[in-house]
Amino acid sequence: MPKDTLTVIDNRTGSQYELPIADGTVKAMDLRQIRLNEDDFGLMSYDPGLTNTASTKSAITYIDGDKGILRYRGYPIEQLAAHSTYLETAYLVIFGELPTAEQLAKWESDINRHTLLHTNIQRLIETFRFNAHPMSVFISGIASLSTLYPDARMVTDPANRRLQVERMIAKTATIAAFTYRHNQGWPFDYPDDSLSFIGNFLRMMFRMTEHKYEPNPVLERALNILFILHADHEQNCGTNAMRVIGSSQADPYSSLAGAAAALYGPLHGAANEAVLRMLEQIGRPENVPAFLDRVKDGDGQRLMGFGHRIYKNYDPRCRIIKQTAEEVFQVTGRTPLLDVALELERIALQDEYFISRKLYPNVDFYSGLIYRAMKLPASMFTVMFAVPRTCGWVAHWLELLTDPEQKISRPRQIFTGPETRDYVPMAQRSA
Ligand code: ACO
Repeated sequence: MPKDTLTVIDNRTGSQYELPIADGTVKAMDLRQIRLNEDDFGLMSYDPGLTNTASTKSAITYIDGDKGILRYRGYPIEQLAAHSTYLETAYLVIFGELPTAEQLAKWESDINRHTLLHTNIQRLIETFRFNAHPMSVFISGIASLSTLYPDARMVTDPANRRLQVERMIAKTATIAAFTYRHNQGWPFDYPDDSLSFIGNFLRMMFRMTEHKYEPNPVLERALNILFILHADHEQNCGTNAMRVIGSSQADPYSSLAGAAAALYGPLHGAANEAVLRMLEQIGRPENVPAFLDRVKDGDGQRLMGFGHRIYKNYDPRCRIIKQTAEEVFQVTGRTPLLDVALELERIALQDEYFISRKLYPNVDFYSGLIYRAMKLPASMFTVMFAVPRTCGWVAHWLELLTDPEQKISRPRQIFTGPETRDYVPMAQRSA
């Protein structure tokens, strides 16, 4: 009868250990018993980038990167993109079940009620230079929410957590819109709760002088789809940051700002911005082969929007975004950069370099083209990612705080610095 255990022989000592296997994992702490002698600290695992370490159990999002599967709470991303709205999906991701009609109506009205922003935050945004990167402004706006809601530190109170969740989902959209309008030099536009959450977001972003803003239904649907696709992606860099900061029981706005800061990196959420700059740099489809040669030569240039830590197959979100882009272009007109992107994808998917490394387009490859078609500057793209990802960050924050197995996040290190040595007076130091 096979046993769910791992037998380990420490060849340094000849000792044998039996470690339980559960959920396809061994517990890192079970390694600690493997010691050379009484004084030995015990064995640890070494995993830079946490590439093979499960830091939590989670019931939110399932990904099979080899098969290209993504599900929120069991529902395939394709079905949610086809039938759901962002707010309904956010409810599902955060609370675990699709809402009833009554629950959804209450959720939508609760969220809409919280979209208004304190004028202090508005004034804070106004103080940033006109050319400040929108992500820097957005992160600062999110962090400053904790100055207005000191009650958010009561993270052990479920009712209080629920209130902060509603505020976070609602106010990130308004901060994003204000960030954009500041970037453009336009006056801020206040929320209008006669519109849907996405319709209102479009209005806060794009309303000019018209008295009644009517969101374009194709763009409203496209944004719903993009927001659904970006709502969560399990333990990615930003979510891990949210969990790490949240594990100290910091207030959720501080954790959220940290998660957004992680998203800002070009290897993570800012890849959509980098993709657009790369497409502009390539310029025309005929320049694609030479560009790909430079990528393969390893001159430090990566093919942005390609590759993923988890997906070793086509990113399922990318397929949906590509289709959505076509619908958006029918309203906004087609950008010539789409031809460059299509040619890049076509050639890369036939190239041995990309095939052997299982590098496929990821979610960021086409999303920037939609945002560009909506006339957004590339620097706004990561903000457009952060607004819906707030839903995933919040869901993981709640899961973390209610998980009895979780502790303050505090990894170990392998110390490689000098052994103890005596302080050297300045006069005796050499260069
Ligand atoms: N272009 C060219 N080569 C690449 C790329 C790329 N985009 N991505 C990976 N590779 C190569 C690496 O050079 C490496 O090759 P080697 O084995 O010859 O050294 C191999 O593929 C494996 O790459 P790693 O960096 O080890 O893969 P990792 O899982 O650590 O990185 C990452 C994943 C960061 C996403 C990477 O693929 C990348 O930098 N992609 C471009 C940036 C990007 O699009 N990021 C967005 C990801 S989606 C998101 O975060 C929302």
